[in-house]
Amino acid sequence: MDTKNPVSTRTSTPGVLSQPQSQQQDYSYYKRIFAGYPMPFAYLDLDLLTHNIQQIATSAGDKRVRIASKSVRSVAILKRLLAADERFQGIMCFTLREAVYLASQGFKDLLLGYPVWHYIPAAAEAIAAGAQITLMLDSVDHVRQIEQVAQQYEVKIPVCLDLDMALDLPGLHFGVWRSPLRTVAQVRPVVESIIAAPHILLDGIMGYEAQIAGLGDHYPHQTAKNVVVRNLKKRSLLQVAQRRAAVIELLASYNLTPRFINGGGTGSLHTTRNEPGVTEITAGSGFYAPALFDNYQDFRYQPAAGFAIEIVRQAKVSNPPIYTCLGGGYVASGATNNDKLPRPYLPAGARLIPLEGAGEVQTPISYRGPHTLAPGDPIFLRHSKAGELCERFTHLLLVSNGEIVDTVTTYRGDGQCFL
Ligand SMILES: Cc1ncc(COP(=O)(O)O)c(C=O)c1O
Repeated sequence: MDTKNPVSTRTSTPGVLSQPQSQQQDYSYYKRIFAGYPMPFAYLDLDLLTHNIQQIATSAGDKRVRIASKSVRSVAILKRLLAADERFQGIMCFTLREAVYLASQGFKDLLLGYPVWHYIPAAAEAIAAGAQITLMLDSVDHVRQIEQVAQQYEVKIPVCLDLDMALDLPGLHFGVWRSPLRTVAQVRPVVESIIAAPHILLDGIMGYEAQIAGLGDHYPHQTAKNVVVRNLKKRSLLQVAQRRAAVIELLASYNLTPRFINGGGTGSLHTTRNEPGVTEITAGSGFYAPALFDNYQDFRYQPAAGFAIEIVRQAKVSNPPIYTCLGGGYVASGATNNDKLPRPYLPAGARLIPLEGAGEVQTPISYRGPHTLAPGDPIFLRHSKAGELCERFTHLLLVSNGEIVDTVTTYRGDGQCFL
C-alpha cells in the first residue's frame, strides 16, 4: 500500500471548493511515470495545475489576473496559462530583458513589476518597435530618467506607479522595502511630474501587499507567531484598501483614470478581490504551488511542480535508514530560514537531515515509511518557491493521467538568464 499524498485538498476560501484529485498522486504513481528517466528532472503535473488554475480564477472573483512570470519562467507554460481562463490577461515581468524577450515571443500587455534605470533605452527601442511594455516607477527621479530616454527615442512610454503597502507600527515595518510612496502627499509630486512629462503616459498603479500575499500564517509548530501574523494581516488589510482608494481619488482629481489598478499576489487573492477600485490581481506562485504556499490558513493549492533526485547510495541501514541522493541543493531566495530549503515530498516520511540540509552535490534523506528504497530510486521534492525551480532545469516534464505527455523548455532551456 502506498502512503497517501500528504498534501490535503482542503481550502477554506469562502466559495472555493476543492476538487478531488482524479487519481492518487502518490510515490508509486510518479515513480511509475518516470521509470527509466534520467534524474535529476523537474516536472509539472498538469492535472494538479488545472486544479490550481480553476482555484485561482475562482478566488479572483470578478477581477482580472495578471500572471507573475517570475513564478512560472517558461514561455510554453505562460502561454498555456493565458489560454486557460479569460480572466487571465497580461504578464507581470521581473526584468526588462525578460519583457523584451516575451514581447519577441508574441506576448502583449507586459508590466515590468520593478523599476529599471540603465535598461530604459532597451524598453524605448522595444516600444518603438511595437512591444507593449509598461515601466514601473516610484519617484520624480524615475520620471525624469524615463522622460529623457523617451524623448531621445521619440516614443511615449507607459508607466505604472508603485505604491508602498507596508504597515508601519512602532518598532515594526510589516511589509517589504520597495516604493517610498505611502501617502497622497508623497504621491502627488510624482503624479504631477508624470502629467508634465510629454513622453510618459500613466498606464496603471500597483500596490503589492507583500505582508499579506507573500507571508505564511499557518506554519507548523509556530502557533504564537501564526496568531501574531494573522492579527497584523487583518490590521494591514484595512490600511491597504484605504491607501489604494486615496490614490485612486487623487488621480481622479487630475482627471486620470489609469488602464489598470493592480494589487495582491497568490496569497491575497481572497482579500484583494474585495477592493472595489482594484481591476486586476497578480498571481503566479499558486500555479506551481511550491512548499512555502503550504503555510497559509485560508487556502491550499495542489503541489503541481516538483523535482526528482536519484538515490545513489545508502549511508545508514536502519532506524531510520538514510539514503544519499545526487544534487538537490536548490535553495530559494529570501531571508535564509529552513523554509527556503526544498521540501522532500514523496515518498511521505522522507526528511532532510537538519545538519546537512540539501547539498550542492549530495543530499542525505532519512526515511520512515513502507517503501523499500534502493539506489536508482527517486526522491521527489518541491522547491520552496515557484519559478526559481526553473533556474535549475532546462525542461519541465509535463505529466497527465499517469504518463508524460509533453516536455517544454524553461527560460533556462531557452538559453535565457534574467537574473
Ligand atoms: C510586485 C509583485 N506583485 C505580485 C507578486 C505575487 O506573486 P506570486 O503570486 O507569485 O506570489 C509579487 C511577488 O513577489 C510581486 O513582487
